[in-house]
Amino acid sequence: MKFFLDTANIKDIKSWVDTGLIDGVTTNPTLISKEKGDPKKTIKEICKLVKNGDVSVEVTEKDPKKVYAQAKKITKIAKNVVVKIPCHPDYFSVIKKLVKEGVRLNITLVFSLAQGLAMCKLGVEYISPFIGRLDDIGSDGMQLVADLRQMIDEYGFVKTEIIAASIRGVQHLQESILLGADIATVPAAILHKAMLHPLTDNGMKKFLDDWKKVGRKTFP
Ligand code: E4P
Repeated sequence: MKFFLDTANIKDIKSWVDTGLIDGVTTNPTLISKEKGDPKKTIKEICKLVKNGDVSVEVTEKDPKKVYAQAKKITKIAKNVVVKIPCHPDYFSVIKKLVKEGVRLNITLVFSLAQGLAMCKLGVEYISPFIGRLDDIGSDGMQLVADLRQMIDEYGFVKTEIIAASIRGVQHLQESILLGADIATVPAAILHKAMLHPLTDNGMKKFLDDWKKVGRKTFP
C-alpha cells in the first residue's frame, strides 16, 4: 500500500520525503491556497522533491473545453504530474479524450459506487473517494472504499487504483489499510500521529533508564 501526502506544504513534504515513506503527493486548490508564492513554482518544487512519485494537480477551470486545455497544460509542468478532475458528467467526455491521449488522471470528489464504476470504465489511473466528507453528511465514507474495492476486484478494472482521500484521523487510515485501498492520501499531521504509540514511548524510556544502570559511558 502506498502513502501519499495530502498537502502543498513544501516543509512537510521535504521532511516526509526524507523518511522514504512517501510515494506521492495530492494537492487541490484549497491546499494550494494555504501556501504562499506562485502555485506553479510550488508544484514544480513538489514534483522535484517526490521525483519517483505522482503529484496530483487539480484543474481550476469550470468550462469543459477550458478544463481540457488546462489539463494538457498541467501535464507539461513535470513528468510525474497527474491531473485531478472532478467526477462530474460535464467532464466525462473530456476525461475519455484525455485518457485516450495518455494523460494520467486522478478523478476527485468521488462519492458513490456508480461514479467510481463510470471512471473505471473510462480507464482513469486513480479514483479518490472522499471519506471524511461523506462522514460529515452522516454517510459512511469507509463503506464506499470497501464497495469500490469489491467492484474493482469483481469486474477486473486493473488499471484504476483507489486513493482513500479526505482522511480526517488515524482511524480512517487504519481502515483504509484493512479495506485494501491502493493508496491513502494523508495530511502530514495525521500520518505523524499514526506512527506514534504510547507503548513505544514508554518502552523507549524504560530501555534508556535501564541502560543507565549498566553504568557504561561508551558502547559498543
Ligand atoms: C484529496 O485528494 C483531497 O485533496 C483531500 O483528501 C480532501 O480532504 P478534505 O475533505 O479534508 O478537504
